[in-house]
Amino acid sequence: MAKLLATKSMESLLNEAHEEGSETLVRALGPFQLTALGIGAVIGAGIFVLAGIGAHSAGPALTLAYILSGLGCVFAGLCYAEFAAMIPLAGSAYTYAYATLGEIFAWIIGWDLTLEYAMGASTVSSGWSNHFVEFLSIFGLKFPLWLSYDHWTGLRTATDVVARKMLAVQHPELLPGTQAFSAALDALKAAAPADLTAQAHALLGAPHLFGIEIGFNLPAFIIALIITTILVIGISESAKFNSGIVMMKVAVVLFVITLGIKYVDKANWGHDWSTFAPFGGGGIGLAAGLVFFSYIGFDAVSTTAQEAKNPQRDLPIGIILSLLICTVLYIGVAGVLTGMVYWKDINIEAPVARAFLSHNLGWAADIITVGALAGLTSVMLVMLLGQSRVLYAMAKDGLLPQKFFGAIHPKFRTPWKGTILAGFLAAIVGSITPIDDIGKMVNIGTLLAFVIVCIAVVVLRKTDPSRERPFRAPLVWPVPVVPVLGVLFNGYMMYKLGWQNWARLIGWLIIGLIVYFTYSRFHSKVQAKVESEVAAD
Ligand code: ALA
Repeated sequence: MAKLLATKSMESLLNEAHEEGSETLVRALGPFQLTALGIGAVIGAGIFVLAGIGAHSAGPALTLAYILSGLGCVFAGLCYAEFAAMIPLAGSAYTYAYATLGEIFAWIIGWDLTLEYAMGASTVSSGWSNHFVEFLSIFGLKFPLWLSYDHWTGLRTATDVVARKMLAVQHPELLPGTQAFSAALDALKAAAPADLTAQAHALLGAPHLFGIEIGFNLPAFIIALIITTILVIGISESAKFNSGIVMMKVAVVLFVITLGIKYVDKANWGHDWSTFAPFGGGGIGLAAGLVFFSYIGFDAVSTTAQEAKNPQRDLPIGIILSLLICTVLYIGVAGVLTGMVYWKDINIEAPVARAFLSHNLGWAADIITVGALAGLTSVMLVMLLGQSRVLYAMAKDGLLPQKFFGAIHPKFRTPWKGTILAGFLAAIVGSITPIDDIGKMVNIGTLLAFVIVCIAVVVLRKTDPSRERPFRAPLVWPVPVVPVLGVLFNGYMMYKLGWQNWARLIGWLIIGLIVYFTYSRFHSKVQAKVESEVAAD
C-alpha cells in the first residue's frame, strides 16, 4: 500500500521543469497566448448549445446556474493556479496529485483527465459537425444525413424530421413549438408506426455494409484530424491559430450580448422567485451541473507549463484571467437569452442562434453559427493539446509506454505520436458514437479532477509549508475556505449529475485501474526508485 502512495519528490519535479534540449518541448507561450488558450478551450458548445437545456432546468434563473458553476470553477481555478506556478510541468492535475497524494491517485486523475480532454474533444467535434452542416445550409448546400451523424443520432434526427412532417399533416391545428405539439410528437415517435420508421430510414439514405446500416459523422472525423495535424506541426503555430479564432469568437459573444439586449423583454425574467426560478434551488443546481461543460478547459492552460516562457508568472494569469473573462461573458449571454425568449420556448439544439431567428434576425443567427463554428474549433484544439501533454507527462514517469507517448518530434518539438493517437481516437469516437452520454461523462470526470486538486492544494500546504509558491491562492491556510468551497460546489454538481453518470465514471476508473495494475506499476520510475532504496537499506 505504501508503494501505491509513493509521491514524486518536489526536487525531481522541479529538475524536470528546468530540462532543456532538443528532446524537450519548446517554450513559446507568453501571457496573451496562455489567456487565449484558456478562452479558446472554454467558449464553445457549452454556451452555444447547452444553454438551452440549462434554461429548461433552471428557467430564467439560468444566469444563477452560470454563476454557481462559474464559482465552483473559480475556486478550483485558484488552486490550479497555485500548483501550476509551483510545479510548472505538463501533467497538470496528474502531476500535482503525484507530488501530494501519491502514485495511485495520480494515475486515477491522469486516467480521469482523458475523459475531460480526449472525450471532451470528441463531444465538441460532433457539435462542430452540426454547426458545419448549418453553415453549409446558409449557402443552400446539403450534406447527406448519414454522413452528418453517428448511426443512432442520424436515425433519431431522421425520425424527428419525418414525424414532424407527419404531424403537420395529421394535426394541422397543432402549432410547432407549443407543448401540445411536443407531446403529440413524442407520442408519435414512441408509437413508431411502420411507415414512420420506413420513411426515416429512407431519409437517412445510409448504405449497408455486411447488412449493417452505416452512419459516420464525416465532418467531425475530418476536423479532429485537421486539428491533430496543426498540433503536431508546432506549439507556436497552434497558439497563433488559436489566438485568431479566439478573437473572432469573443467578438461574436459580445455581438450576441450587445444586440440581444435590445430585444430583452423583462417580463421573460419573471416577477418573483417562483417565476424566476420555477424549479427552485434544485433546478438551478441541476442546470449548473449541465452548463458546467461551458467552463471546462481553462485548466488545460496548466498542461502547457513546459511550453510557457515564464510559467511561474504567466500560468496563474492565463488560468484566472481566461476564467474571469468567460464567466462575465456567460452571465451576459444567459441574461440576454432568457430575456429575449420565454424560457419554455428556448430552443434546445441551437438556443442562441434560434433566439435571434425568433426576432427575425436571420443574418445575426448566421453570424452566430460562424462564431460557434470558430469557437468549437479552438476548444478541440486546446483539449487535444492538453490530452497529449498529460499522456507525455505520464509516459515520462513510466506509467505509459515512454517510447511512444514520450516521443518528441525532432523538428516540430511536439509529442507527436501521442498527439496523433489521441486525435485519431477522438476522431473515431466523435464520428461513430452517440455523443450525449459522453458529454455528461466529460462533466463528471472534470469535476472529479477539480475536487482532487482542491484537496491536494491543502495537503501540500500542510506537508511542505515552506516551499516557494510564486502564486498563493487566497484563503487556503490555516482555514481552507477556498478549497473547501471548491470541493463543496464541484462535489454538489457531481452529485446532481445522477447515478448513471457516477456508474459510468466508476466503470471508466475501473478500466484505468486494470491498466495500472497490469502495466503501469511495473514500469513506474518512482516505484523502481522506492524499490532500489529499500534494497540499499
Ligand atoms: N467549454 C468547452 C465548450 O463549451 C468544452 O465547448
